[in-house]
Amino acid sequence: FPLFLFPGEKPQPLATAPSQDDLKRIAAHRAVDLVESGMVLGLGTGSTAVHALDRIGDLLRRGVLHDIVGIPTSKKTEAHALSVGIPLSDLDRHPAVDLSIDGADEVDPHLNLVKGRGGSLLREKMIEGASKRFVVIVDESKMVDRLGGSGLAVPVEIIPFGWSYTLGRLKMLFTGECGFDARLRMTGGEKKEPFLTDNSNYIIDLYFENGITRDLDEVSDEILRLTGVVEHGMFLGLASSVIIAGRDGVTVNNK
Ligand code: 5RP
Repeated sequence: FPLFLFPGEKPQPLATAPSQDDLKRIAAHRAVDLVESGMVLGLGTGSTAVHALDRIGDLLRRGVLHDIVGIPTSKKTEAHALSVGIPLSDLDRHPAVDLSIDGADEVDPHLNLVKGRGGSLLREKMIEGASKRFVVIVDESKMVDRLGGSGLAVPVEIIPFGWSYTLGRLKMLFTGECGFDARLRMTGGEKKEPFLTDNSNYIIDLYFENGITRDLDEVSDEILRLTGVVEHGMFLGLASSVIIAGRDGVTVNNK
């Protein structure tokens, strides 16, 4: 894999067959090659985005990059970015973001995404929507023919008030859809309680047996029109490029 290395920097050893985490790191490092000193960066959330944070921190420490400001898409990312030395800001102080780098749960052939398995979809959509360029970093397992088609959830962030009413309204939107289900996301572990987003909201996970077969823009509008819904995890037309790391190499798809 043609990773850019600095003088004296040792290539990260790869197992003969790269693991999924190796692929995430490869995609992340490719994206960080696009970062220039002086940029305002949107910092994504998740196990792939963490590799980008680590790389940016590393380049700042080496003095290869300077005057970077990062806008974190979650509290987790905020903590990690600070731990690797990335100076932080927010959308109020820096409303124009040069470049955002983030992972995704699914990517379709038109570069539409599902995001939010980590629950950070609202801040991600705000920051990535404010970016001149939004680069998505994924390993090949995230590619799907149709959003919702991997069996993973399409998340919807809702306000806690009247959540079961909102759940019912969401279910009504997909009445008759074969194999459709919608569930309130709960925390893992022993103490089962509703998962809370960084904005103190709940998440309803939508499951589609065969993916979303209807027009995505229409589905998006219908969901957003429901009072009580804050945002959903379909990112339609937002990605500028997707960097896909696979076992046969790296592919870059541009909008
Ligand atoms: C968090 C997200 C993540 O980007 C998405 O879940 C991908 O995560 P990972 O890189 O861990 O597979 O949308 O809200």
